[in-house]
Amino acid sequence: MPQNFVPFLKENARKDMIEELNARLADTIDLTNAVKQAHWNLKGTGFIGVHELLDDVAAHLREGSDLMAERVVMMGGLAQGTSQTVAKESTLKAYPTDKVDIQDHVAALVERFNSYTVNLRKGIEAADEAGDEDTADLFTEVSRTAEKDAWFIGSNSAKAA
Ligand SMILES: [Fe+2]
Repeated sequence: MPQNFVPFLKENARKDMIEELNARLADTIDLTNAVKQAHWNLKGTGFIGVHELLDDVAAHLREGSDLMAERVVMMGGLAQGTSQTVAKESTLKAYPTDKVDIQDHVAALVERFNSYTVNLRKGIEAADEAGDEDTADLFTEVSRTAEKDAWFIGSNSAKAA
């Protein structure tokens, strides 16, 4: 295994965290692609606001991917972010490819953000159990941003109020 820069963690905890970080990385990349799919295709009332919001959201998710992938490498692992791996490992429901209506996209995205942040919370718990406060903190940061972005997206729903 390559060099590990997180020396205090026990071997099995480190391997568990590498696995957990790569799993959440796959979800993050999948969600980023879903956000761009919506950004490109959505049409309807409120178009420009949601269209532009989704580019900011995609940028936040890319920052999250980078944090996760780079921590995997710091821990002596290999970051796994190819399309093939993401398609195989993402736990999110496949994003619909036939939607145009802005409300359909808002609903589809909120559903996926909700399962994404639930998985991040499980990641926080796993990191706490492994004694890896830094990975817990990393997941917390990503999850806090994702919950806020879900709120921004979801508040465009006609049913939000
Ligand atoms: Fe664009």
